[in-house]
Amino acid sequence: HEADAYRTDLMTITRFVLNEQSKYPESRGDFTILLSNIVLGCKFVCSAVNKAGLAKLIGLAGETNIQGEEQKKLDVLSNDVFVKALVSSGRTSVLVSEEDEEATFVESSKRGKYCVVFDPLDGSSNIDCGVSIGTIFGIYTVEHSDEPTTEDVLKPGNEMVAAGYCMYGSSCMLVLSTGTGVHGFTLDPSLGEFILTHPDIKIPNKGNIYSVNEGNAQNWDGPTTKYVERCKYPKDGSPAKSLRYVGSMVADVHRTLLYGGIFLYPADKKSPNGKLRVLYEVFPMAFLMEQAGGQAFTGEKRALDLVPKEIHERSPIFLGSYDDVEEIKALYAAEE
Ligand code: AHG
Ligand code: MN
Ligand code: MN
Ligand code: MN
Repeated sequence: HEADAYRTDLMTITRFVLNEQSKYPESRGDFTILLSNIVLGCKFVCSAVNKAGLAKLIGLAGETNIQGEEQKKLDVLSNDVFVKALVSSGRTSVLVSEEDEEATFVESSKRGKYCVVFDPLDGSSNIDCGVSIGTIFGIYTVEHSDEPTTEDVLKPGNEMVAAGYCMYGSSCMLVLSTGTGVHGFTLDPSLGEFILTHPDIKIPNKGNIYSVNEGNAQNWDGPTTKYVERCKYPKDGSPAKSLRYVGSMVADVHRTLLYGGIFLYPADKKSPNGKLRVLYEVFPMAFLMEQAGGQAFTGEKRALDLVPKEIHERSPIFLGSYDDVEEIKALYAAEE
């Protein structure tokens, strides 16, 4: 019976990745070990988020990070768990986290061939009110065996080998791409395993949702202002788009991926490079969007072609359904 077959044929994320890696005969399971440690971190954060209110994990940690943001307890806790899990995997050389001012260089006995850039807890402003938050990560390989440096991670997003996010919402869902499409895995708490529930996710070519913080409208530039205007007052008589904005990038991007539409965090007069960080927010989400048939644009170029100069660099970002992003690209091109 189809149903029985499904129940016994458990496609866990580890098994899925092993299948993918079997296409690379030279692979020795390093990526699988790396991913299993990222998965461990996600399971930990999922359980901490679910009992945050009970476990007094709400509120501030009393520190401020390099971003000038007050760190929440869960920001710091999640960061510690991911750093320790990644270092102990023995498969990484350089780690960049939103919560650490400097990159982490793994000591030689534990060094591996991957660099991981990550946002351990995305959407921190939503922790204390129980709204969906997430973790975002991107993975580069290190080709040399000398001392690791930040040069190993200051690479364009088009050199990333994998990217993903985990969303801690009504269910805990990990969305991953290793370069052959985008796949969604849902945590089965009774097994403690992420099970494949959304194979080969493709974003609709066009959507009717736009996602932006309208509160910044007075500071937007011309093309963004024109584009949002068109969403609200379409010229061609088509229906106006709906506005959906959670304020957690993971939640806004996940909805965009599944339903279609566009997510924007534009530049504005106060922050000319926008707010979102290139390495561990823009690149992973841009990677996933392109793998799902969408696209990601910075206002000037393809997001994955950006070459970051420093590890916490920011960039404006417009990502989502292919046709929707084409529209905003045309508006920026017309402005040049
Ligand atoms: P983080 O919590 O990791 O610092 O990221 C927050 C980001 C992102 O999740 C979200 O899209 C954006 O901040 C929301 O910013 P505004 O509140 O300015 O709209
Ligand atoms: Mn933050
Ligand atoms: Mn974030
Ligand atoms: Mn964060």
